[in-house]
Amino acid sequence: MDASRYHQTYAQWRTDPEGFWREAAEAIDWIETPKAVFDGAQGVYGRWFPDGVCNTCYNALDRHVEAGRGQQAALIYDSPVTGQKITYTYGRMLSEVQILGAILTDFGIRKGDTVIIYMPMVPEAVFAMLACARIGAVHSVVFGGFAPKELATRIDDCKPKLILSASCGIEGQRVIAYKPLLDEAIGLAAHKPDNCMILQRPQCEARLTDGRDHDWRKTWEHAVHYAKTSDCVPVKATDPLYILYTSGTTGIPKGVVRDNGGHMVALKWSMKNLYNIDPGEVWWCASDIGWVVGHSYIVYGPLLHGATSVMYEGKPVGTPDAGAFWRVISDHNAVALFTAPTAFRAIRKEDPDAKLLKQYELKKFRALFLAGERADPPTIEWAEEVLGVPVIDHWWQTETGWCIAGNPMGLGLLPVKHGSATVPMPGYQIDVVDEACKPVPANKIGSIVIKLPMPPGAFPTLWQNDERFKDAYLAEFPGYYKTADAGYKDDDGYVFVMGRTDDIINVAGHRLSTGGMEEVLASHKDVAECAVLGVRDQLKGEVPCGFIVLKAGVERDPAIIEKEIVQLVRDKIGPVAAFKLVITVARLPKTRSGKILRGTMKKIADGDQWSMPATIDDPAVLGEIGDALKGHGVGSGG
Ligand code: COA
Ligand code: AMP
Repeated sequence: MDASRYHQTYAQWRTDPEGFWREAAEAIDWIETPKAVFDGAQGVYGRWFPDGVCNTCYNALDRHVEAGRGQQAALIYDSPVTGQKITYTYGRMLSEVQILGAILTDFGIRKGDTVIIYMPMVPEAVFAMLACARIGAVHSVVFGGFAPKELATRIDDCKPKLILSASCGIEGQRVIAYKPLLDEAIGLAAHKPDNCMILQRPQCEARLTDGRDHDWRKTWEHAVHYAKTSDCVPVKATDPLYILYTSGTTGIPKGVVRDNGGHMVALKWSMKNLYNIDPGEVWWCASDIGWVVGHSYIVYGPLLHGATSVMYEGKPVGTPDAGAFWRVISDHNAVALFTAPTAFRAIRKEDPDAKLLKQYELKKFRALFLAGERADPPTIEWAEEVLGVPVIDHWWQTETGWCIAGNPMGLGLLPVKHGSATVPMPGYQIDVVDEACKPVPANKIGSIVIKLPMPPGAFPTLWQNDERFKDAYLAEFPGYYKTADAGYKDDDGYVFVMGRTDDIINVAGHRLSTGGMEEVLASHKDVAECAVLGVRDQLKGEVPCGFIVLKAGVERDPAIIEKEIVQLVRDKIGPVAAFKLVITVARLPKTRSGKILRGTMKKIADGDQWSMPATIDDPAVLGEIGDALKGHGVGSGG
């Protein structure tokens, strides 16, 4: 007997999707309540709540204060790397955001203008996101682990008038100066912001550029002195709240657009029904605000719900040890944690018997949620054993902004099957199809696609680029959104997501493009040809591995060239790519039509079974690749 209300809820959505989302929308305070739930004629595939008017910041802060939650904790900043723990109530947070909204307005930022936020995990970054939302500006947070060139690409794409940044980030034991990276990015970009506001951190103060840069704290004190404040600007439900760039299949990232109305409705619904969190409870999402998981579940989801969100500036291990996560859960009485499986692999590696857990009491803790990459069954089993609570894998993407398939704890958990993200959330019809877009039978792998329209919260398009949106996501499978993930559904309709169908790889929960890395390798003067693949890694899930063929006549030591290439990827993409392995080979395996056989190379590198492709030009090359990998201690060597 199935005690979960999931099937009934999903059926309710299938029968009356508009009725379902109309009811969910009642949990949001609208300035003008939408009369229409969905308009299929607007946008590329339709728009949600097209005539609704709202403000996301109002729903995240003001309304909770008005409802008497002003003294409740909204955000707990816990930073083992600086030794700080600061709790911000909803009341204090509202006042911070009102002031920051006024500062942004003084910088000339108006509704619809873009602002880039390039900041570490500090509360000011959250205030900045909400202040943008408050005045109707569109923020674009860029992850701190990206290099100046990546930041420059984003500056040129969304053309911010203002950039908000900090003097440095703190990564484990290391202080990383952000300001030189920002200066270099602005130097590289064709578009120049009018102003930058820099949060000086004592660990490494930055030199400010005259005329362009402003000291955050001084600007803030000035605004406080003049009692500046800002009101919530009404925006259309369909107006953009933010742009978040994510790896595409080329070096040019895709600017995923999130709207205001649908986003609020979906996230608010998910907090109770999926995560089973009640307003007032402490929730911890150990991600980074640079990623979608951080946007949705460090910032918007918990605050829209009136919960308390923990913001953690630290690592799962090394800050100071593998007991850090248990310490944070226990210190703040968190009821649930959401993180990437790689974090648990890191903890398990350092403390396989979870001895450090014995030092803490996780009194209120009732669930662990994992996403960002496939949750491998051994990691889930270990987490279940040491924590003794449900460990719930769920699958989503930057594009969707919230869960596609999961196990809805608030509706009553369904039986857990290790290796499966469980079942589609309301709003998503998930099909598994072949190349001709025909459904494949249960238990057979195919392309996972989502029937249009996408639900509220999912992206309506790419920033000022409907054509790329259509080409990348809608063209291949008519009537569907292409997830670019491959997998299958079992006889019970459980979804198993097995890997990408494009060149995206997932390195420690960070999404990266091997195509983008190949562009960097190919730019080295001595490289004639190259290929980058994701190879299996015990800790990070996957790490990139590059192969290069040198130009004829190059006589320099390949080991030196390989080192230069590692540095080049770090400089052009960023340390987060974890690109550390390059192998020089005489030639790359190709089909007779010249296509590099990346799939077979990957199988060899991973030590998996592989067979000789019928279309291979010269079978001997695969043997050479196997030997080269063996020489570097990778894979079975063929
Ligand atoms: N700013 C600057 N540099 C950053 C950065 C940031 N915000 N985040 C990461 N980096 C750097 C790191 O310092 C590291 O540099 P290094 O090569 O000089 O050591 C590199 O990028 C890779 O970082 P990371 O992926 O964090 O690897 P790690 O080896 O330092 O730690 C884990 C491994 C598993 C502990 C870590 O990856 C982790 O906590 N992962 C969780 C991922 C996550 O939350 N993903 C969000 C999606 S849900
Ligand atoms: P991102 O856009 O960074 O959130 O990355 C999205 C991609 O990560 C997806 O397309 C999947 O390939 C992968 N992914 C995320 N969550 C899961 C999961 N629970 N299981 C399998 N793959 C996942």
